[in-house]
Amino acid sequence: METQTRSLLDHLSPERRAAIEEHVETLLSELTLEQKVGQLNQVNADFATGTAVADMDLEEGIRDGDIGSVLNFADLDEARRFQELAVEESDHGIPLVLALDVIHGYRTIFPIPLGEAASWNPEMAALSARVAATEAAADGVHWTFAPSVDVGRDPRWGRVMEAAGEDPYLTAETSKARVRGFQGDDLAADDTVLACAKHYVGYGASEAGREYNTVDISETTLREVHLPPFEACLEAGVGSVMNAFNLHERIPASSNEELVEGILRGELDFEDLVVSDWNSFGELIEHGVAGDLRDAARACIEAGSDVDMVSGAYATELVGLVEDGVVDEALVDDAVRRLLTVKGVLGLFDDPYRYFDEERRSQRILTDDHRAAAREVARESLVLLKNEADLLPVDERDDVALVGGLADSATDMLGAWRAEGDPDDVTTLRTTLTDRVESLTYVEGCDRDGAVGDEQLERAVEAVTSADVAIVAVGERYSQSGEAASRAHLDLPGDQRALLEALVETGTPVAAVLFSGRPLAIDWEADHVPALLEAWFPGVEAGPAIADVLLGEDDPSGRLPMSFPITEGQIPLYYNRLRTGRPAEDGEVDLTVAPENHAEKYLSRYLDVPNEPLYAFGHGESYTEFAYTDLTLGTDAVTAEETLSVEVTVENTGDRAGTEVVQLYVSDLVGSRARPVRELVRFDKLDIDAGDSATVSFELTAADLAFWTADETYAAEPGAFEVQVGHASDDITAVERFELVE
Ligand code: NOJ
Repeated sequence: METQTRSLLDHLSPERRAAIEEHVETLLSELTLEQKVGQLNQVNADFATGTAVADMDLEEGIRDGDIGSVLNFADLDEARRFQELAVEESDHGIPLVLALDVIHGYRTIFPIPLGEAASWNPEMAALSARVAATEAAADGVHWTFAPSVDVGRDPRWGRVMEAAGEDPYLTAETSKARVRGFQGDDLAADDTVLACAKHYVGYGASEAGREYNTVDISETTLREVHLPPFEACLEAGVGSVMNAFNLHERIPASSNEELVEGILRGELDFEDLVVSDWNSFGELIEHGVAGDLRDAARACIEAGSDVDMVSGAYATELVGLVEDGVVDEALVDDAVRRLLTVKGVLGLFDDPYRYFDEERRSQRILTDDHRAAAREVARESLVLLKNEADLLPVDERDDVALVGGLADSATDMLGAWRAEGDPDDVTTLRTTLTDRVESLTYVEGCDRDGAVGDEQLERAVEAVTSADVAIVAVGERYSQSGEAASRAHLDLPGDQRALLEALVETGTPVAAVLFSGRPLAIDWEADHVPALLEAWFPGVEAGPAIADVLLGEDDPSGRLPMSFPITEGQIPLYYNRLRTGRPAEDGEVDLTVAPENHAEKYLSRYLDVPNEPLYAFGHGESYTEFAYTDLTLGTDAVTAEETLSVEVTVENTGDRAGTEVVQLYVSDLVGSRARPVRELVRFDKLDIDAGDSATVSFELTAADLAFWTADETYAAEPGAFEVQVGHASDDITAVERFELVE
């Protein structure tokens, strides 16, 4: 990995940097040990996502200098009151940093991050984060706990909705863009917020997809899969990182010296702030690696974790630990220095009230431009999973039956982690289609939880029978994904499958719109429902965005950032799997039938389902067709110092304009450690008119071929590689080989 100093101060002018450094050092020399420890104490104001141990009177704590930052404050008035207490009534008048989880929009809610990643367009992630930052900063927020960059390969885990899916590269590119969007060029500007890359690290590997569960991954997996998105965020200048809840090598991430001091600060040169997750310092006790809070506080400060989110471990124990000579005061100083530097970079020492401007607030929240941005991002996030006989797009002159409680559920469209999102701001699919389709009949069919009553079913069958086409909204409630929302069964909740069965049986063509915070196991639906559009949770502009695609104004251009399993039994399931000693892939054996002989049996396979997913990473259909030709490499032998150019021509062979995501994978054929079957290294999204072609060029360097080798270093090893280009990870249409030579 690259090494260079990474500090928020690096982005400032020398004068501003010097002024902040001087101010911070002066404060440090003036603060008592108690006051320094107070800075490291972060307390919750409003909405709790667990038990808050730091149970102190908030206002008294701020006034006494026992609190350095607050999360989850209620509104601008409360924010101002807290800040006034800190600035005007505490001893040194140090402003607070005010934090909130602004994950996919503040008031203008965008698609959930997994959906945004499905756009395969980092500019969409940058745009949504930019809008979110503008709104949040106008409402008093200084610091968001986003982006989540956890690589998630288990859709049972509810938090896959918060990040960018199963692939480290797509996650890295998307997360970098999010950091840029949140932080902009100047963190002191009144429309930017401090970002936080989380959860450091490995949280996406929670065993069995169960929230807050154990993680047990190898160092190679840590370095190749889970670390790269963090490194990408550091490259983009992220100013804070959050400890994960999980263990690494049986040591909680918060107290894991190797992870924080060793890799994050030592190898990756991160110089800014590390914040715990909610009570993650306190949870050392539950993990059984600390006997009490004092022990926990010692371990976490020694590991290099700075701010204590709500556990109270630092507030109650650090002073004693220093006074007893157990913890070196210099460690406390380092942590406080990092927090005060953040306050300086945010411009809070110059004007602690700069983010509290009622007028600005009223001009910047939920503007028409912001809504237009939300619609654009939502449109790009939609993935057409299948479209038999070109059922979609629907002709707006047809008689359309719209079915499903989710088609009219404003609150569900906002998804989990909705910050200040308000269901009243949402335009539902029902509202939009009522406006845009000449003859629309809406029937609920099933309620939002998926329950189908006899009468509901009867009315739905009746409406669909007499329609030209049915659009059926099915899926999860918003609360079925997100934090603490793991599911063991990934089928459509309730009776929704039965509803679909009955509607398909009417003979009227059915297009299902799926709402979900994760890949679902929809094998039956894929077999029986002619068209499936994955809509995730699209945000305030759900209706207009979905209608744009359903009615054909826009070509569906989303591609899956995570594989959809046939069944939960295949999980974890991801395209960039390692090669096994007994592979059963690439069409050599028909994996859809039970093995009949030795050659078919003693392979890495199931007896009852194929290895392959239902819909693979990168999959997504368009209303037109694309053909790939002329894949050309600049050379067939390249050294580590040289660049390899790759060119391919993509032709829109259909009769309407469309958007294609060109995906470039590399396969390292022999390595000192087993290598994934393929890895995404580049992609590009292009609009191509009917009958037109576009030539796409990529440049690859040794960094794209590097991995954590048997020598425990990142390197590209000489040997043969394949460049694979295509439409999806399971739809590679052009392959060329080259050698990396010494
Ligand atoms: C716990 C979550 O794991 C984390 O992502 C979030 O930022 C904090 N709670 C604060 O809400």
